[in-house]
Amino acid sequence: MYSRIAGTGRCLPERVLTNHDLERMVATSDEWIRERTGIERRHIAAPGETTADLAEKAARRALEAAGVTAADVDFLVVGTTTPDVVFPNVGCLLQDRLGIHGCAAFSIEAACSSFVYALSVADRFVAAGQARCALVIGAETLSRIVDWTDRTTCVLFGDGAGAVVLQPSAEPGILSCHLGADGRYKDLLYFPYGVSRRPEDAGHGEGAFLQMKGNEVFKVAVKTLEGIVQEALDANRLDCSAVDWLIPHQANLRIIQATAKRLGMPMERVVLTLQDHGNTSAASVPMALDVAIRDGRIRRGDLLLLEAFGGGFTWGASLVRY
Ligand code: COA
Repeated sequence: MYSRIAGTGRCLPERVLTNHDLERMVATSDEWIRERTGIERRHIAAPGETTADLAEKAARRALEAAGVTAADVDFLVVGTTTPDVVFPNVGCLLQDRLGIHGCAAFSIEAACSSFVYALSVADRFVAAGQARCALVIGAETLSRIVDWTDRTTCVLFGDGAGAVVLQPSAEPGILSCHLGADGRYKDLLYFPYGVSRRPEDAGHGEGAFLQMKGNEVFKVAVKTLEGIVQEALDANRLDCSAVDWLIPHQANLRIIQATAKRLGMPMERVVLTLQDHGNTSAASVPMALDVAIRDGRIRRGDLLLLEAFGGGFTWGASLVRY
């Protein structure tokens, strides 16, 4: 038994913040942002609009695409690092909004890799016959933890949500998932406090904002992603020429180009969406998947290679027969 992608959906908040808008906020330029990152614009949640709001819209679209109703869902997992509240988890908030009750509902927090982590867990439950309709979501409102006066980070991030419905199938769907992490890199990309660690315990100058040593993150990301995509291919005794579409975490165009080059994949076979929404963390992979499925690039039977890398560091990859 395999789990198979039955439908996808996405949601971006309405408000768009372009590189030109950012030129008026910090000492940056459209040219610098496009050259160094590939990003042109990002979407920002409205005041009061939360991660669960975006997740709900993406989820409803994925359910519709899969031809199922919320009542069919028997497993719900949300990858997010920017939950509405500490608890109840976003999975429970979403479960309530969808009017379904009783099934497992939880969130997974692995920064930008959260969706790939969530997908791997849901895949195991569906493939083992313990779930028949799993809703897997990546949703974030990173704009809430970005310092909008810091040009080294604020140009990179945006908000959004992507969703996938997984159902059992005798035909191959998700072939394998590969996860990894290394906490030694905890100081390169982090948010300085939460509940147990209070604001007064945060380091000098950290503030209530995402902290990142971009240059160092870049180097580890490129090296780690090379390793994880190769691990996924090796585990399935596949060569990269078998892959129809690379669906990478959308953080930086140069990181994506490096992974594609390592795989020997032309950029025409890479789904790129970061120009339209920047780094949306857990939402990036399912949103890119949804874009390319809906615009007809990805067809049934195509082999997809999903990959992500994020704070922790955490990382993951998955080979999927769509
Ligand atoms: N606009 C204009 N100049 C900027 C800028 C901005 N938004 N941000 C930084 N700069 C400046 C720096 O201050 C530096 O100036 P200096 O040379 O006078 O000191 C110069 O540009 C180069 O900075 P550097 O950090 O070396 O640039 P870079 O080529 O590494 O690009 C990132 C910076 C952040 C785009 C890049 O490192 C990156 O994308 N890293 C990975 C981040 C990431 O993906 N994080 C999430 C992982 S999930």
